[in-house]
Amino acid sequence: MTTTHEARPDSRAAATGLAPGGLPLLGHAIPLRRRPLDFLAALPAHGDLVEVRLGPRRTYLACHPDLVQQVLRDSRTFDKGGPVFDKVRLLTGNGLATSCWADHRRQRRLMQPAFHPERMPGYATVMDQEISSMVDSWQEGQAFDVNTAMQALTARIIVRTLFSTRIEDRAVAEIQRCLPVITRGFFTRMVAPLSLMEKLPTRNNRRFDRALGRMHSVIDETISSHPAGIDHGDLLSGLLAAEDEETGERLAGHEIHDQVITLLLGATETTGNTLAWIFHLLGENPEAEEQLHREMDLVLPDRRPGFADLPHLDYTRRIVTEALRLYPPPWLLTRSTTCETELGGVRLAPGTIVLLSFYALGHDPALFSAPERFDPDRWLPERAKTIPRGAWSSFGGGSRKCIGDRFAAVEVALALAAVASGWRLRPQPGPGIRPEPKASLSTGPLPMIPERRRRGSSATSE
Ligand code: HEM
Repeated sequence: MTTTHEARPDSRAAATGLAPGGLPLLGHAIPLRRRPLDFLAALPAHGDLVEVRLGPRRTYLACHPDLVQQVLRDSRTFDKGGPVFDKVRLLTGNGLATSCWADHRRQRRLMQPAFHPERMPGYATVMDQEISSMVDSWQEGQAFDVNTAMQALTARIIVRTLFSTRIEDRAVAEIQRCLPVITRGFFTRMVAPLSLMEKLPTRNNRRFDRALGRMHSVIDETISSHPAGIDHGDLLSGLLAAEDEETGERLAGHEIHDQVITLLLGATETTGNTLAWIFHLLGENPEAEEQLHREMDLVLPDRRPGFADLPHLDYTRRIVTEALRLYPPPWLLTRSTTCETELGGVRLAPGTIVLLSFYALGHDPALFSAPERFDPDRWLPERAKTIPRGAWSSFGGGSRKCIGDRFAAVEVALALAAVASGWRLRPQPGPGIRPEPKASLSTGPLPMIPERRRRGSSATSE
């Protein structure tokens, strides 16, 4: 990932273009709603900056990695904002992920210490316990939905790393029950054309309101029952202790609440879906799975993986990077310009919506050879040099880069290594998996069959 992206192939269109298939009044609303991934992945062929119309509104998808980086790195001009964020803020409050530039810097300074590398081994211990108890519950030959299992795992991990041992099992279960209802309803609300629809007393709306209300109460109860001043090694201790070096300011009670909701929502589906995609891809690619097993047999011949093993699991890391290229959970991001500016030679008025799609980048043949192929070794150092800088940005970039990137990388690698060292997950025959672009890019139901794997049973070590 070190070269600068230069000329496009000859077949590539000029720098700016218009997405094909727009209709008067509706613009590109229909393809965006019906087959958003195919639609987005086709757009880089139409230019480095492509106009997409949402109804009469002109928005722009940045398709060239340099333009994507320009948007990500200038978060003052390309800020979080616009109607979608206004809605999200109503639900989650003004947390780190939704706050505007003016407030974000202060929030980030206060939150960053909770994600300091020194805290990771402590979080990894909790991850390890949860991963072990999941894997130990598997019954050989008994199919289960890997997607649901991974969401449950990542929900338990974030709840227990946030609140350490100070949360009762009842509250963990309650949050775990509420989270999927909220994330599902959340997405419906993001794409709903009319806010009125959310207020109708339908069964789903009532369930959503109940789950959100319950989640707010459980979080308040948990925060208030544990006084500040003691470091329990969890994320909440980090948030309660946070003090701005410049101003001496701390996070207020309601801000801690908003950050906790932000972390619960930001950490669960993203990481759960990444794991589900990885197991799906390994099930479809036995050679890659075999190579992963060889790495396990070599590095961890007689024990479960731990935090200290992660630097030695190179192939495991390449698998994660490659899965995130093919199926980045945040498949579409938006920004709103705060002043008149220029992007890719186009003048943008204040309030223009700019779209970023890591899915479109990851599937662009101008950036990745044979982009549909699952090829973890494309991330071997020598080969990765040919990949243009900024072409892989699954954790975002600039000051809004994912604060949980290291946390997620540890969690995914530990879970993957724990499964691969003792099990293999076989795809259950049935209809193929089609990516479901919801709030996060999901596999949908993913039935797989667990089979025990004998250590040292990979091809080379036999
Ligand atoms: C594989 C898993 C994950 C992926 C792919 C991912 C991806 C991302 C991306 C792309 C952004 C930037 C969004 C934007 O620029 O609009 C982001 C932001 C964020 N993520 Fe993650 N994330 C993951 C896991 C996590 C975890 C585990 C946590 C918490 C423990 C987390 C917390 C956040 C927060 C709080 C933000 C907002 C950061 C800010 O604006 O300063 N994420 N994530």
